[in-house]
Amino acid sequence: MSDWTSGYVADINYTFGYYAELNPLRIDLAFINAGIRPPKVVNACELGFGQGMSINLHAAASGINWYGTDFNPNQAAFAREVAGVSQSGAQLFDDAFDQFCQRDDLPAFDFIGLHGIWSWISDENRAVVVDFVRRKLNVGGVLFISYNTQPGWAAMVPMRELLVEHSEVMSAPGVGTLARVEDAITFAEKLVELNPRFCQANPQVKGRIEKMRNYNKHYLAHEYFNRDWEPMGFSKMTHWLSSAKMDWTASARYADAIDSIQLSQDQRTLLESISDPMFTQTVRDFCENRQFRTDYWIKGGRRLSHLEKQEALDQLRVIMITPRDQIALKIEGLQGNFDLPESVYCPILNVLDNYQPITIAELRWQLKDDTAAATALTSAITILAAKNIIMPAQRDADIDAAQPATEKLNRWLLNRSRTSQDITFMASPVVAGGVEVALFHQLFLLSIMEGAKTPEDMANTAWGVLSAQNKCLIKDGQSLSGEQDNVAELIQHAERFSKQQLPIYTALKIIPA
Ligand SMILES: C[S@@+](CC[C@H](N)C(=O)[O-])C[C@H]1O[C@@H](n2cnc3c(N)ncnc32)[C@H](O)[C@@H]1O
Repeated sequence: MSDWTSGYVADINYTFGYYAELNPLRIDLAFINAGIRPPKVVNACELGFGQGMSINLHAAASGINWYGTDFNPNQAAFAREVAGVSQSGAQLFDDAFDQFCQRDDLPAFDFIGLHGIWSWISDENRAVVVDFVRRKLNVGGVLFISYNTQPGWAAMVPMRELLVEHSEVMSAPGVGTLARVEDAITFAEKLVELNPRFCQANPQVKGRIEKMRNYNKHYLAHEYFNRDWEPMGFSKMTHWLSSAKMDWTASARYADAIDSIQLSQDQRTLLESISDPMFTQTVRDFCENRQFRTDYWIKGGRRLSHLEKQEALDQLRVIMITPRDQIALKIEGLQGNFDLPESVYCPILNVLDNYQPITIAELRWQLKDDTAAATALTSAITILAAKNIIMPAQRDADIDAAQPATEKLNRWLLNRSRTSQDITFMASPVVAGGVEVALFHQLFLLSIMEGAKTPEDMANTAWGVLSAQNKCLIKDGQSLSGEQDNVAELIQHAERFSKQQLPIYTALKIIPA
């Protein structure tokens, strides 16, 4: 059998994650904050889509034409099944990057995304990706790329090499990847318990090894046990991408851009004194001991004037997605926990808590008599988005156009929740992508789809599914036994769900009104 894996862990499938950073609708706020004109995205591409949850949710929930590949045939088959369900038109392939990037049936793209790929592929494959970005990303187009970086990983580099070497030389021949992962971690635990001088010099390594026990083994296999694994410094990344004419624009995680919570005043002063924006990022990674970067890069960024920035922000639409009574007026960053002033945030949340999409211009107008809130609105929007209290929303016409595909997909996901609990995201045409929906909530939504009207109906449907899988609820650390206790507990969950989450899922059009 020929080896199509290029040293990649391919005998076990990847998890069913969803990554909002791959949603092109999120670009606008990050770009406007950075003072760069965001592109209009018509065609988009995801390289290495894994199980394909991100690409499928984005294709179903927006009018963007999505193309993607992942060379693992099991994953590509699953992803294609999902695309068939939603009939989104997503074109999903099982080509290796070098085959896919040479296809002659691909359009030029406005957005190319790779999540969890770059650090785990060879330099040959990196060259293939960069060449693809150079040839197939339109001028003005955006690249989203995430990768393990230094300095946060520096101390773990020798330890990861030890884990891989153990799995290669100490496991019995023919032992599967998951068993090799388990054996290697057990060995590393024994080693760090002996307090070797390496761990004395790098005390954080012990904590990292201990934490591995909390992670899904499939994730660990993909994270640590590939042949290729390189945490790359920001300057080296810049070097790679400059040959595709790409410039770094912004972090894809809104919270990263809020300097006041991530950096001390002295660190900010040092960073402000650096004239080269790329070197600023390198130094910033030291300040933050950064381990993972999620960045947007642009091919030919054009600056927005102050007025253009204001106008672009005013046109953005947002929707609140967190129940009002669950919102703590605090934000956490690397510098600690910070209070958010009630005088600014309460008036804003008062306007947003009907859970309807609203433009920033309309929000600004409604806050015209609240000087504190109106003055701080721009930074408050970023902070609320960073806390995932609000999300960017599409125009109504785009929402209506996407709804048939999201309804088909969500119906299928809810039916699937009867037998599998590995997907915890559903499609919202309002936010043009995925929204996390916990398993219980999926079961309650399933019951509503089947005609449930009351919390009792919802609890009975959920109990039917859970008991068929020999599962029960846990309350105060104790498993509940018997139908009566389980249903009583589920009724309480369903009552809370009906008051708090259901109005939001309805507003997000995850379930028809
Ligand atoms: C760590 S997983 C990330 C998956 C997905 N992007 C996510 O974040 O959920 C990396 C994926 O890249 C795929 N992959 C690795 N090398 C590849 C190659 N040369 N060509 C195509 N796919 C590749 C793997 O099959 C795997 O699904």
